Amino acid sequence: MNKFMVTTAIDYVNGAPHIGHAYEKILTDVLFRHFKQRVEKTFFLTGVDEHGIKIQKTAASLNIAPKELCDKNADQFKQCWELLDINYDKFIRTTDEDHKKIVQEIFEKLLEKGDIYKHKYEGLYCSGCECFLSEKDLDENGCCPIHGKKPELVSEENYFFKLTKYKDAIIKHIKENPDFIMPSFRANEVLNQLENIEDISVSRAKTNVNWGIEVKSDPTQVIYVWIDALSNYITALGYNPNDESDEKFKTFWPANFQIIGKDILKFHSIYWIAILMALGVELPKTIYAHGWITIDKNKMSKSTGNVISPKTVMDAFELKEPDAFRYFMCTSAQGGKDGNYSDEDFKERVNADLANNMGNLLNRTLNMLTKYFDGNILAQHICEGELTKASIETISKVKEHFDKVELSEAAAEIISLVDMANKYVNDNAPWTLAKEGKMDECGKVLYSILDLMTKVAVLIYPYCPNIAQKMAQQLKIDINMNLDELSAKMIKEGKLIEKSEIQPVFLRMDSEFAVKK
Ligand code: MSP
Repeated sequence: MNKFMVTTAIDYVNGAPHIGHAYEKILTDVLFRHFKQRVEKTFFLTGVDEHGIKIQKTAASLNIAPKELCDKNADQFKQCWELLDINYDKFIRTTDEDHKKIVQEIFEKLLEKGDIYKHKYEGLYCSGCECFLSEKDLDENGCCPIHGKKPELVSEENYFFKLTKYKDAIIKHIKENPDFIMPSFRANEVLNQLENIEDISVSRAKTNVNWGIEVKSDPTQVIYVWIDALSNYITALGYNPNDESDEKFKTFWPANFQIIGKDILKFHSIYWIAILMALGVELPKTIYAHGWITIDKNKMSKSTGNVISPKTVMDAFELKEPDAFRYFMCTSAQGGKDGNYSDEDFKERVNADLANNMGNLLNRTLNMLTKYFDGNILAQHICEGELTKASIETISKVKEHFDKVELSEAAAEIISLVDMANKYVNDNAPWTLAKEGKMDECGKVLYSILDLMTKVAVLIYPYCPNIAQKMAQQLKIDINMNLDELSAKMIKEGKLIEKSEIQPVFLRMDSEFAVKK
């Protein structure tokens, strides 16, 4: 792999960011930071989705212009990602002028090709999903099962996209590429949905929706928000349907992973793929659908008042760095399933894994090194043993998990390596060896642990960049190294640390609760 590109869904700006939005951006950032340790050219795209009836209605209810709402909330998303150390390369807003222009061109291209046609239509529109639903999509009360609201009956003359034309090609692609939809259990879901697809409406009459990108050749219509939003993945790179695309597009497209929530898998694995096929653009390698985060096992919703923001959590626990929250989010669900946030689990898991297990081990070992060897690594202590073998194996296992977006599983491998080192230190009791005057043996035990911690620091870095940086400082390694450079015997002969330089990498969390009881 010589380049790596990852994208997130772009969030609607009709509200402030919550921990569900944060979950996805954190997963993506951790994935990105890991691949940055393996690949030279990388690109991370995220942003916000600003058009459509949902934003129009929210702005109207607040008595402000839609753009004002978008500006205010887009800023909140940006600030939130800064707080969480989300290291994106580009933050796209669908109100960006260059995005709007290319979306118009994409629409014209599809019209020209005959893949878009005009058609009179009546259907049930859910503004929460921003899509038409059929009777069979509704629950027993005639409501949208995701938003719990009755869809509106809409009758309009719209433009339609010939989705059905691409049905067979999409089915073939999914069947022939087992990594195309991840986790693999979601592929069947998509294949089932494909059985019943129809052509989709891709514009709305401006008289009904005016907050959107106008159809260039027919200003009475605005482009359907999902066509606008999905196109962000290529407009952000400077794709041009009529002319040569920018270097960025040529370098980074197709994306290696497009990370989205399970609720919008249909839009990505069917609509988006059909659009790309129609444009003759290469398909992304993998669409990865994550599960949903609940709070205390309840779905987050404005009406139940349990929507919480990452800032609320960080403030409640007086966290200055987002590492603990990032770590918890990544370990809260396995294999693309749903996860849950609770204050108790958060506190318990990060205290156990990051403070007691990982942080304490490093702290104890460095303290012993200063006590018995004045902080020096002696030539005769540099050795390879069972911990070296386990560390090197862990690097491969972590890589394999990341290849499948198994971030929780990869973290578990790292923590189990730390567990092994904790057991090793207790079994070998360097304090007893020192008391008995067996200084060479004692030095070797300490070296083995410290050298293992260099692997732990680099592998945990994508999850906990600040903690890892503090570990690296004390172990005198460069945290920005490539995983290929991570080998046995990273710690060299000579002075490693002064007692005054030793600092805890993560303090146990006590204190408050973020979720109102
Ligand atoms: N704007 C569309 C996406 C367009 S992508 C071209 C959208 N926006 S959203 O704000 O509703 O959701 C953005 C992302 O956040 C989606 O991937 C969605 O699945 C995710 N999440 C929203 N709530 C969530 C949870 N409670 N838990 C985990 N992710 C959730 O859909």
